[in-house]
Amino acid sequence: MLFERVKSLDHILESARTRGLKRQLGAFDLTMLGIGAIIGTGIFVLTSVAADKAGPGMMFSFVIAGFVCALAALVYSEIAAMVPVAGSAYTYSYAVFGELAAWMVGWALILEYAVAAAAVAVGWSGYINGFLHEIGYGLPLALTAGPYDFIVLTTETETGTTAGTTTAGGFNLLAFLISLFVTLLLIMGTSKSARFTAILVIVKIVALSAFIILALPAVNAANFEPMLPKGWGTPLSGVGVLGAAASIFFAYIGFDAVSTAAEETTNPNRNVPIGLIGSLTICTVFYLVVAYAAVGAVGAQPGAELSLSKEPLAFVLREVGYPAVGNWVASAAIVALPSVVLMMIYGQTRVLFTMSHDGLMPKFFSHVHKRFHTPHVVTLVTGIAVAFFAAMFPVGMLADVSNSGTLFAFFMVALGVMILRRREPDRHRPFKTPMIWIVGPLAMAGCALLFISLGWNTIRLFLYWALTGLIVYFAYARKHSHLGKQQTGSG
Ligand code: ALA
Repeated sequence: MLFERVKSLDHILESARTRGLKRQLGAFDLTMLGIGAIIGTGIFVLTSVAADKAGPGMMFSFVIAGFVCALAALVYSEIAAMVPVAGSAYTYSYAVFGELAAWMVGWALILEYAVAAAAVAVGWSGYINGFLHEIGYGLPLALTAGPYDFIVLTTETETGTTAGTTTAGGFNLLAFLISLFVTLLLIMGTSKSARFTAILVIVKIVALSAFIILALPAVNAANFEPMLPKGWGTPLSGVGVLGAAASIFFAYIGFDAVSTAAEETTNPNRNVPIGLIGSLTICTVFYLVVAYAAVGAVGAQPGAELSLSKEPLAFVLREVGYPAVGNWVASAAIVALPSVVLMMIYGQTRVLFTMSHDGLMPKFFSHVHKRFHTPHVVTLVTGIAVAFFAAMFPVGMLADVSNSGTLFAFFMVALGVMILRRREPDRHRPFKTPMIWIVGPLAMAGCALLFISLGWNTIRLFLYWALTGLIVYFAYARKHSHLGKQQTGSG
């Protein structure tokens, strides 16, 4: 079944040529696009989740997750430059492994993009709810988090520590509404405005820089003790440094958004690798310094205030005596995070659209709106699903589930790149992964390590999802596949 119904690379490249999207994005635009998709809820919100799982050792988690992502970006760059078409890992898998694996990757990408969009929307809601609360217009608690989420109410005790009572949420109203709002924007045709992306990237970079400048001087060595309150972590436990790395991996994803724009890029063979690796490098440097400063400034023990905050970066700045800048950083997150939701939903629609073109998803997914020229049906279906996920589930859980799908897709891409090196050694490769026989297996091992560090609950959800995918493939997609029909001569 594997290696059956393989699409030829030449055929994929040829159909991209005839789609004729205008090539107008350069290396700088792509780097901006990458940073625009990468910096989001991960650094602005999940820092507290990481602190809860690993304590100060979360700094190592940032390094480990960044390292795995860097390896993945190196292999991703090779195939993205070689096959610069939309559809990302799904399309590559079709050419390497054939339809079944491509379907499973596409199915996993639903986790990567749609569930990630929901996670970012929930992260955003933490900041906007905090802001509304600050100015005296806070929503009732039941409308600030989903029923599976917990709101921790902290109180100062005499000893200066905090005691928390927890209460479950009800319906995360603002996360729901922002998802629908972004969906409407996408239907009306707002997607990748290079200038708008660049402005938001600047807002985020300025916010993180301000954070670093103000928090770094407050770093206190005592805050790093004990460094590893929950140890390095064991497989399936979902805690410790590795558990936090598996969660914080979310902060780095999005660089592959660059590859979805490959068809609209000038000189993609050079510019796509620059965009992928450049954006990831810049973000990694920022993240490492932000994590160090956050831990050093206020401490990061599990259960302490940083680990409970829904707006951790703003919280740190308020704690170190800069409440106004803290509010400003919160505003930057409020302004900038919706664009990450937008990019994630956009990425999702592109993958589903491509799958629908291949016959694997229903035909109405590729309907294009007459006036707006956008795939409105698939966008609406995706947006409504994202909105409900965002309304119900906590950010940490959504991010972990999204990571499971992404890690699976990256694993397959690394394997695919190595197979192609063997199968088609002479094909033109504008970017070659350096030391592929070391980098490729390391990327796969890194993805596998983070995957098993996610915690059993997340892995179980992933397995259910994969099983559902298999059933849908054999019950529907396999029979409707255009490639299948061509090969059996019935289409
Ligand atoms: N990396 C993106 C974020 O952190 C998905 O929001």
